[in-house]
Amino acid sequence: MLRIKNRTKKALFSLATILTLGLLGPGVSASENSGVSNKADFSTDTIYQILTDRFKDGNAGNNGSSDVYDPSNPRKYHGGDWQGVTDKINDGYLTGMGISAIWVSSPVENLDLIDPSNGSAAYHGYWGRDFFKTNSHFGTFDDFKNMVDTAHSKGIKVVIDFAPNHTSTAEYGNLQFPDDGALYKDGVKLGSLRNDPNNLFNHEPWTDFSTYENGIYHSMYGLADLNNVNPTVDTYMKESIQKWLGMGIDGIRVDAVKHMSLGWQKNWLSDIYEKNNVFVFGEWFAGGTSGEADMNKFVNTSGMSLLDFRFANSVRSLYTNPSYTMGDFYSVLKATESEYNEVSDQVTFIDNHDMPRFSTITNGNDTALNQAYALLLTSRGVPNLYYGSEQYAKGGEDPQNRGDIPSFNNTTKAYKIISKLAPLRKQNQALAYGGTEERWVNNDVIVYERKFGNDVAIVAVNKSQSQNFNIGGTLTSLPTGIYKDKLDGLMGGGQLTIDKSGKVGSYELKAGQTAVWTVENKSTEPQIGNVGASIGISGNEISISGQAFGAQTGQVLFGNTAANVTLWTDTLIKVNVPDGLVGYQNIAIRNSNGALSNTFNNFEILSDKQIPVRLMVNNFNTNLGEELYIVGDVAELGMNKLEDAVGPIFNGTESIAKYPNWFYDVNLPVNKTITCRLVKKDGQGNILWTSNSYVIKTGDKAATLYIKDK
Ligand code: NOJ
Ligand code: CA
Ligand code: CA
Repeated sequence: MLRIKNRTKKALFSLATILTLGLLGPGVSASENSGVSNKADFSTDTIYQILTDRFKDGNAGNNGSSDVYDPSNPRKYHGGDWQGVTDKINDGYLTGMGISAIWVSSPVENLDLIDPSNGSAAYHGYWGRDFFKTNSHFGTFDDFKNMVDTAHSKGIKVVIDFAPNHTSTAEYGNLQFPDDGALYKDGVKLGSLRNDPNNLFNHEPWTDFSTYENGIYHSMYGLADLNNVNPTVDTYMKESIQKWLGMGIDGIRVDAVKHMSLGWQKNWLSDIYEKNNVFVFGEWFAGGTSGEADMNKFVNTSGMSLLDFRFANSVRSLYTNPSYTMGDFYSVLKATESEYNEVSDQVTFIDNHDMPRFSTITNGNDTALNQAYALLLTSRGVPNLYYGSEQYAKGGEDPQNRGDIPSFNNTTKAYKIISKLAPLRKQNQALAYGGTEERWVNNDVIVYERKFGNDVAIVAVNKSQSQNFNIGGTLTSLPTGIYKDKLDGLMGGGQLTIDKSGKVGSYELKAGQTAVWTVENKSTEPQIGNVGASIGISGNEISISGQAFGAQTGQVLFGNTAANVTLWTDTLIKVNVPDGLVGYQNIAIRNSNGALSNTFNNFEILSDKQIPVRLMVNNFNTNLGEELYIVGDVAELGMNKLEDAVGPIFNGTESIAKYPNWFYDVNLPVNKTITCRLVKKDGQGNILWTSNSYVIKTGDKAATLYIKDK
């Protein structure tokens, strides 16, 4: 991880300071970081993604009318519900696979009509109507709570999908939808797209996906696009997510994050993190395997993780594109490791509900799928498995890729592979938090090492269907000894010998073989693996996961400031963000013996409670190629550092501002007088000019503020 730096030997605190912090509570088990009480960190977990409607019908009583319910129609409801998920948790299908988290469809009430353009019902959950009610096809609040409590009792965390970008489709070509994308709050209608006196929606035509700005403020295929910075919508989304968080969920998968402003989302996340230290990851749909500037900026500064499309696209290419090599795969691992500040916090996958299933793209090549699972479960990032692919389910584009799970067979080879590797992520912290180094590679073979402290995992995959390769002589960090394949030979692996010189003894990695060898030797010095959340305001609870923190309470330092410790165990510490600090802070641990950990330096302390603010700049001319930014004297506007100014700001949305008028949605602290300046940069980021100062004042809710109004 790029931002985890090497330890420093500087003694920052006296023994007296350490002693005053004292000891905390009774001892907690050594694997506390990997339990359900650690809602902030999913790196030791394996998520199983469930389309609630397509998993199991546990209650035929909620299936609804035949207008929308028809299990033989791939676009209508099939009856799956929270009772069905609860049943499968209770019968051991998920725990038997080593699953420790589920991601279920958005639980909120959806439009319950058929889309006249294609005959589809809202079985997928992406047509929100009342975010304060349940989707009755999935169950009641009691059913939902029962599912969450059952999951927790079996060591499974619960993630909900959530789509605050839009309500339902309001128009599609010439078709107008009867509900008009209406938004309701607990049964009370707040407005709809064509009847919108309070400006709850954006009123632009379909996005052409041409620019980041266009994708944010235009509708996606007629889905009524919410004006998130409207005070009513902002409050609505803050309150509704609290309702679901209040039922004990552990994480949120945020839909379509590329289509909402970074500022609004950061403000919403900050509000979430004030009350709940949970894991949040977003969907930034990306084709290909290379980085995109806006996506990379989002992943590193928004405070939420992303679904790792680059990883998914790379593994899919490995098994579908004959000229895509293991070296290419490794290059993607290295590029993401350097571009993402917290690569082990991103959510990896090999297929999902928006792309053809893995068995379809490989024409039913089971070995390819098995190897892809092994790569997924042993790589950096939080693995997310799409329901049914472990049954070798097939299906092309949506809705074919969203079929009913074909069976709950717990003897498929994929099921067995997952059940060996998922639990290993909880035992071996190299898999959860370690870096990745290639040890042996050619077009068909990769042997990579994951290492964290003294935990080591070696993964060897040969995708050739005909050639064996001898990997003898390879250097690894495994100590001298004999290692059993953690897959128990399921994919052809055998014993690995590390000789006295630390090299692999003769080992024939056969065609199609995959093997995993590990060692767990606890570090003698504290090692931080993960800090979550990664943004927050003073007082928020933050979790720090890793190892060798010791049984006795030590110190957690934000820069030079010691934080209040509320839980201290050997693998998990909880603290409150200290008062009086803002901006990026280095976090390090000093254990009770005085040993310092590595440093985590991607934590951003925001100034205060956050609100979204639309900043307006009117009548400002630039030359072709010049871009405009805003800098100010708060952390949220770059703390007056010109290189950290926010932007480039927008000027191309008809209903908001068009050149020479500009706007930008930002997150700002409440009730604050802020001095800011405009910054002109060229396309390369060189600073060309800065303006005089302007003063703006925020209140306690979302607002539009003019920096320059003439
Ligand atoms: C991304 C979801 O994954 C997809 O299935 C959905 O249709 C769109 N966002 C719109 O909500
Ligand atoms: Ca049902
Ligand atoms: Ca939008």
